[in-house]
Amino acid sequence: MTVKTMDTQQVVELLEKVAGLNQTGGNDRVKTIIHRLMHDIFQMVEDLDVTPEEFWSAVYYINELGKNGEAALLAPGLGMDKYLDIRMDAEDEQAGLAGGTPRTIEGPLYVAGAPVSDGFARMDDGTQEGDTMLITGVVTDQDGKPLPNTLVEIWHADLKGAYSYFDQSQSEYNLRRGIKTDAEGRYTAQSIIPSGYGCPPEGSTQALLNLLGRHGNRPAHIHYFVSKPGYKHLTTQINLAGDKYTFDDFAFATREELVVDAVRVKDAARAEQYGLNTPFTRVEFNIQLVSTDKADRQSRHERQRALES
Ligand SMILES: [Fe+2]
Repeated sequence: MTVKTMDTQQVVELLEKVAGLNQTGGNDRVKTIIHRLMHDIFQMVEDLDVTPEEFWSAVYYINELGKNGEAALLAPGLGMDKYLDIRMDAEDEQAGLAGGTPRTIEGPLYVAGAPVSDGFARMDDGTQEGDTMLITGVVTDQDGKPLPNTLVEIWHADLKGAYSYFDQSQSEYNLRRGIKTDAEGRYTAQSIIPSGYGCPPEGSTQALLNLLGRHGNRPAHIHYFVSKPGYKHLTTQINLAGDKYTFDDFAFATREELVVDAVRVKDAARAEQYGLNTPFTRVEFNIQLVSTDKADRQSRHERQRALES
């Protein structure tokens, strides 16, 4: 059965009332968005002949999603985070701020307030017997000039694919650190190679992905925020090459330029140089920032983040 009601006076007026367009109070931006959102949902119901059963299963799905705390997990799974990145890339292009190390999605698991040190940080608390990983890199501007005193914030998952704070079995700020680059713009982080992870198998996100015939896995990755006054804030991640899901990430975060080699070092002399035992894995990630005088581009965009005031 196909009926068309969207253009009727009854539906047009209903949408206006729903969005409070006939009221003086409230917030105009919210009214505009809700009017458009509800219009598009109504339109979809009409175009796809959505049944009441389908509609109500979606409503209760959203209830479950919230109860499981998975809304910010479903969002990247449905490409929203990637889409916002595509928009920001296009905006940068338009504003003459393109270039530098590419951005990619932040994900929902940053925690503010991790310890900050100069030049070097050990990120793991030593309780997990993972493969030692040494990340080194230099932060420069677009001309290759090193940028000292740049804050490089790094966070990643443990061997179970879990993040401290959200996984209360880990110590406070385990695998989360801020490192200020030295006079040559260099930073070094010692940690353990993270595992990739999947959406909770019984969770709401995975339930929907199953209906789409999709998996919910992410490759091993390491998150970065890089900031320095006078430069565009960078939110990015690196992927270690060779992971099964490197180019098949359910959250669409992989970018070619952000896939780095994980080089196994067995040479004792080289290990000693870093005060490490062999073997260990060396990862190099150099970062290029784009200069800008626009204050709003120099800090990360606002969103709800753990422990951020
Ligand atoms: Fe992550």
